[in-house]
Amino acid sequence: MKLRDRLLLFSTAQLLLFGVLFALAYGAFARGVLPMLEHMLEAKSQVATHAAGNALEVPLGADDLGLVTGALATLFADPDLAYVAIRDNRDQPKLSHGAPVAEPFGGTPGVAAARDGYIRTWEPVTFEGMKLGSVSVAFSTTRLDAIGAWARRIALGVLLIWLAALGYSVVFARSFVSPIHAMMLFSRKVAGGALAERLTIAAPGELRALRDYLNQMTAALERREAEQKEAAAHVEKIQHELLTVSRMAGMAEIATGVLHNVGNVLNSLNVSVSMISDQVRGSRIAGLSRSIELVDSFPGGLPAFLDTAKGKALPTYLSTVSRRLTEENAKMLEELGSVNRHVDHIKTIVAMQQSYAHPAGVLEHVVISAVINDALHMGESSFARHGIEVIKDYSNTLGVLTDRHKLLQILINLISNARHALKDHRAPPQQLTVRARETATAIEIEISDTGVGIPAENLDKIFQHGFTTRARGHGFGLHASANAARELGGTLQARSEGPGRGATFTLEIPLEGKHAVQN
Ligand SMILES: Nc1ncnc2c1ncn2[C@@H]1O[C@H](COP(=O)(O)OP(=O)(O)OP(=O)(O)O)[C@@H](O)[C@H]1O
Ligand SMILES: [Mg+2]
Repeated sequence: MKLRDRLLLFSTAQLLLFGVLFALAYGAFARGVLPMLEHMLEAKSQVATHAAGNALEVPLGADDLGLVTGALATLFADPDLAYVAIRDNRDQPKLSHGAPVAEPFGGTPGVAAARDGYIRTWEPVTFEGMKLGSVSVAFSTTRLDAIGAWARRIALGVLLIWLAALGYSVVFARSFVSPIHAMMLFSRKVAGGALAERLTIAAPGELRALRDYLNQMTAALERREAEQKEAAAHVEKIQHELLTVSRMAGMAEIATGVLHNVGNVLNSLNVSVSMISDQVRGSRIAGLSRSIELVDSFPGGLPAFLDTAKGKALPTYLSTVSRRLTEENAKMLEELGSVNRHVDHIKTIVAMQQSYAHPAGVLEHVVISAVINDALHMGESSFARHGIEVIKDYSNTLGVLTDRHKLLQILINLISNARHALKDHRAPPQQLTVRARETATAIEIEISDTGVGIPAENLDKIFQHGFTTRARGHGFGLHASANAARELGGTLQARSEGPGRGATFTLEIPLEGKHAVQN
């Protein structure tokens, strides 16, 4: 049963019970009491008629009207009496008292008959079997009818009051139930997200307070939702700004990375160029031109000069100079070759920055030993200067399909770091070891040094952008190298036994590319 119906039933139950009890009482009165009263009036009519018959024996026998009236004095005093009629032995009217009724001597003698608002009985008056006359007594049912009418009137009144009370209690219950019902529907709507809804129903007493409270609560919810939406929009805006800023920061990072890498190569370029200038400065060319000037200015010219002791040594000298010059030439060509490679590398670094949108660079078949040698070469003079022993442990046969410039950059960074680590830790042995080997899935290049080492707590941090422990460091090298390794599909990992115990960096480049070439 619904709450609404239960409340209705609860508020009308007492009234309904009262109604049923009253109906039962009225029914009992109308069907029991009123007929009983009528029956009593009939009995009274019969008894009174019989008594009158007995009392009239002598007066009627004596035919004395005064005696007749006297004998019936008690009957005449009865408040319910309506009519008394007496006939003589020849059925001639002898006496009539009250308002005459129809057929006073009809029907069975001694049996009461009810009719038109009265109850009437007649009886013959006899003495010793001789008929003296007859008497008819009628009692009015007016008082009885009045009781019935009053009972009906009361019942009707009670019914009207009862209906009014019932109606009122229904209306009263509804005035509670309807607002509760409306509030229930309202709550359901609000729960469904209709926060702009407001309750407008009229409600009595505390229900009004409840309605106002519900409205306030919904308004507060609506306000909070609006605030949340605003906050969400704000967060989205900030996220967008953050994205822009981080994109710009990313671009700045790339730019610094490029400068860093170009800086590394420029260092090596510088070394190569100064080696070339040293060579040019110390060239045998100067000695050769001085010898030719000597011969030119000799009195008698070349034939005379050839006769001198110096002249005899000239051919040997010339062949030595020529050999040296050839050597110088080869060395210069070699240095120029490396200058060329450096410049080429710088060009590639810049090109990579420009093509950052396509981080996957050009794949080519790379001979690992060649790239390692190139990277080592860039620091060669420094190794020699600082007495660093370089141990090379790799074969010339290792190769992989990868981006050569990225690989070169990583190696340059790792070797440059190792060099710094060794410079900062002068204890012997001063060794830089480069190993390379092929595993089932990758080429593994290991760069170890016997330098300062890395404290355990820094092992996680060294790959972070901007993390450095060197006074003149920037903290870009390892970050960029790890990114480049990832772009090659590989990994870069560091390990160290701790401060003063050197460090080892392991670069892994997957062989998939190699397989692709072979297929
Ligand atoms: N071989 C190594 N031995 C000991 N510490 C190292 C070694 N390589 C890197 N580190 C540590 O990692 C830090 C970060 O190296 P990273 O190359 O990123 O930057 P950096 O060398 O300090 O500066 P730069 O950006 O100029 O290269 C270094 O400052 C150093 O503390
Ligand atoms: Mg570095």
